[in-house]
Amino acid sequence: METLRHFLLEVAGVTAEWKLQDILTEQIELVKAAVGPDEHVVCALSGGVDSTVAATLVHRAIGDRLHCVFVDNGLCRYKEGERVMGTFKSDLHLPVTCVDATDMFLSRLKGVVDPEKKRKIIGAAFIAVFEEFSVQLEKELGKKPAFLVQGTLYPDVIESCPPPGSGKSHSHTIKSHHNVGGLPPDMQFKLVEPLKWLFKDEVRKLGALLEVPDSFLKRHPFPGPGLAVRILGDVTQGNALETIRLADEIFVNSIREAGLYDEIWQAFAVYLPVKTVGVQGDKRTHSNAIALRAITSEDGMTADWYHFDSKFLADVSSKICNSIRDINRVVYDITSKPPSTVEWE
Ligand code: XMP
Repeated sequence: METLRHFLLEVAGVTAEWKLQDILTEQIELVKAAVGPDEHVVCALSGGVDSTVAATLVHRAIGDRLHCVFVDNGLCRYKEGERVMGTFKSDLHLPVTCVDATDMFLSRLKGVVDPEKKRKIIGAAFIAVFEEFSVQLEKELGKKPAFLVQGTLYPDVIESCPPPGSGKSHSHTIKSHHNVGGLPPDMQFKLVEPLKWLFKDEVRKLGALLEVPDSFLKRHPFPGPGLAVRILGDVTQGNALETIRLADEIFVNSIREAGLYDEIWQAFAVYLPVKTVGVQGDKRTHSNAIALRAITSEDGMTADWYHFDSKFLADVSSKICNSIRDINRVVYDITSKPPSTVEWE
């Protein structure tokens, strides 16, 4: 970075005039102009950094014409809905409606094992919920919201689409992030994506300028398709959802207790559709294996696996096996990105 800085400022004579405060002012003006004086906007809040910062920015631009919705799609983490709705009210003062769409999401996902198909189904299901939400709003407002806020970031754009002007086809798509590639082509909403030129660290700084509390800004990223990309294969198989929620909660809580949360970019459990033989008490078991993943990263584009000390891993592994009946084996993912991605699907 120092070499690059020297080259740009001293050798190439470029002026360092890119400031986040200017980006904020510019984006607020762009949102105002794009939405116009009379239109209403829907925003899905997940409780994560991106959607929270995007919603707060759009709220600054258009005030009460922003209508936020939290979709409980059955793919959220342990007690996520309760926690997120509580903090939206107490910390953010953004009006949010909670919609329980668990049955719709899980019935559409039943039996689906292909990761890209899952993402597309989830993207379409979200849009169906937003459309229904806007029909309800139309009854109150006399006008249907025409816009939808998405917390899309620059890495999502790069990984979902070929670079503009590159002439490359979509065969270069790494994944359809539901924010971008997974949206159905016949969607009625126009998108408002005020963060789409920014990286995560910049979004966190922008959030601080908008006075978004640290409890949101420091949260580990959570993907739009939720636990569906952390349960390999059919999301509805056995007790997968319940099992992964508990394992994830134990792992992340242990990380918090060890004071490591802020130095880790993301940490989570992955449900493997694999049964292995174990011995618990004096009995032979044939139960599921789960994987744990924790990484460090600057922007999610590249990542390294987090080097825990072995005692920490051993303790987490016994806590998980002792408290979750369906698990008799825990493995730790030691792959960087590339060659892996952060999520397993
Ligand atoms: P990958 O797995 O692509 O993850 O290396 C990079 C970062 O992006 C997050 N991620 C997503 N976020 N919708 C999102 O909003 C998605 O479909 C999605 N897929 C991955 C991932 O959690 C990591 O932080």
